[in-house]
This record gives sequence, C-alpha cells and structure tokens, in this order.
Amino acid sequence: MITADIIVDLQYGDCAKGKVAYHLCKNKKYSHALRYNGGCNAGHTIYHNGVKIVTHHIPIGLVFGIKSIIGPGCVLDPDQFFKELKELESAGIKTKNKIFIAQNTHVITPECKEEDGKDTKIGTTKRGNGPAYKNKYGRTGIRAESVPALKPYLIDLYKEFHGKKDVSILCEGAQGFGLDIDWGDYPFVTSSHCTVGGAILNAIPPKAIRDVWGVAKIYETYVGSKQFETNDPIFAKIREYGEEYGATTGRPRQCNWMNMDLLQQAIRMNGVTKVVLSKMDVLRKVSRWAVFDKKKKIEFKKEEDMKKFIRTRLATFGITNKNLYFSERKDRI
Ligand code: IMP
Ligand code: MG
Repeated sequence: MITADIIVDLQYGDCAKGKVAYHLCKNKKYSHALRYNGGCNAGHTIYHNGVKIVTHHIPIGLVFGIKSIIGPGCVLDPDQFFKELKELESAGIKTKNKIFIAQNTHVITPECKEEDGKDTKIGTTKRGNGPAYKNKYGRTGIRAESVPALKPYLIDLYKEFHGKKDVSILCEGAQGFGLDIDWGDYPFVTSSHCTVGGAILNAIPPKAIRDVWGVAKIYETYVGSKQFETNDPIFAKIREYGEEYGATTGRPRQCNWMNMDLLQQAIRMNGVTKVVLSKMDVLRKVSRWAVFDKKKKIEFKKEEDMKKFIRTRLATFGITNKNLYFSERKDRI
C-alpha cells in the first residue's frame, strides 16, 4: 500500500514547513521523504540537537535517515545540491545511500542562474528557478539523468513508489499558496505548483493521501517586488522580533496581518485536514493582534480573543479544534 501526508504552505512561504516536517518525521514512520516543487529558492530552517540547519533542496526527512528524494516537480542546481550534502555531513547527518534525485527532474544550469540574476521585475531569489522551469516547459531543458555527476543519485520514482509493498511518504512542499504559479498574485509568483496538485505530479496517486498539513504564520510575510507592507510601524517591530529575513537571500521580509480570505481559499483548495499556525510568540511580544477578514481589518485586545476568532472561522472552513495547532518558536528542538 502507498500512503502520503503532504505539507503545504497556506501563505507566501517561510511559515515553518521545515519545522512541521521535522516533527512529523521524528514521530511518524515514513519510508520516504519527498521534495515536490521548487528549487534552491526555498530555504527550510530547522534546529536539530541545538544546531541550526538550513536546507534548500534536500528534504528534512534526511535528518532522521529517511530515504529522501528530490522529485520531478522540482528543479535542481547540482552545485547547490553537493554543497548542501557537504553541510549536512559536517553537521553529522549521514547522507550516503539516503538521498536521491528522480531521473526526470530538470536541472538549473549556470545560464539559468545568469538569466535570473538579471531579474528586476519580480524580485526573484535569483537562483535560476524561473528560467529552469521555462526551459522545461519549452522542451529545451536538461534532466538530471543527463548530468554525469548526478548519476549515483538517480532514482526511478515509479519503481520506487509503486514497485514495493508498503510505502509511506512525507511530501514536503516549498514556497506557498500566495506564490503559486496559478493561484498566487501573478506575475509576483514563483514558477512551480505550491499546492497538493504539485505533490501529486510526483507519482503520488490522489488516493494515497492521508493528511494535508496546512502551515501558516499568525501574521503574513512576503519577499519580492510588490508592495505588501503598510506603513504601520508595528511591522518593523514584528520583522525584528520575528527575525523576518530570507533564509535564502537574507532580504528583509515585508510583513502584514494574516489574511483569513487567503487562508480559507488555500485550506479549501488544498483539502487541508490539519492546520499549524506558527510564531504566536511574536504577536505576544509586540502586544498587537489583528487579521484581515472579508477585506476588513479586525483588531483584538488580547491573544485569546484572536485565537477564539480563528477557531470559530477555521471551523467554518472544516478545521475543528483538534486539528488546529498554535505553535511558537520555543517549540524549537
Ligand atoms: P523565484 O521563485 O526565485 O523565481 O522568486 C519568485 C518569488 O517567490 C519572489 O517573490 C521570491 O522572493 C519568492 N520566493 C521564492 N522562494 C521562496 C521561499 O522559499 N520563501 C519565500 N519566498 C520565496
Ligand atoms: Mg523559507
């Protein structure tokens, strides 16, 4: 039997998908971890035995020795891949015979990075992501199977997932719903599918899906060219206390209140069964609580009022109390 849990981000990335992946891999028995979209534009930060680890391509499952795969929904930069392997090895994580790349995954070439480096319109991470997908869909791309250095890591995803008796996969997504190529605020989006649809493209049959973990932050952040933050000085405080600087580029993230309408759309369209709302401690620190709901700002006097409002609203989207988790940074391991 093949089963899969999927992690999706309900906002603009950086909501703590890495942390959710870490907890799930620590507590559940997955045979495989799969990265299903994006390239090294992503940055997943976790704390393992007190050590900070940032991965860009490699699934968090590898930290627990789970057989980890970069799927064909992703684009891969070989230089970054080998750099990450080295970093993980020096953090004491065994990578040998544990990390694989689907043979039909497309590669980010130096030309892709050069082209992306010239972007001034979108505010990309300049990691070559967009041009690699452009080549893929223009049918001029290069697949991992054509790169000699990647040969030892190649895997046939069909045989791997469908040729065995029991396979249980954690699908780790990158970026988020607001950056999705189809459902985000085009053109200020990334070039991949950041929804459960994106996971399914990686040899995951829909029937295999058990839980869809939707991850959001108690306020929103976004990095890129569009104007996202308003001039309320509270957001500078939130950025500072929330350490809102890109894990990949170090750019300051623009901040704003959580948007319940975006959350509702992302929960429904992804078929989310569990919701994690992260960084509760940040709003507590700045003592301001607010959301946008039906395009109106609603302010709350205290944290409990905001939580109560969210619980009630999420129940109307089908997420009951027992499937809603509020998390904070002290939950670091
Ligand atoms: P690209 O994915 O590098 O082409 O960038 C397109 C947009 O997505 C830009 O606004 C990036 O800042 C944003 N983006 C891409 N990857 C991430 C991520 O992992 N977290 C947050 N924003 C991202
Ligand atoms: Mg990130």
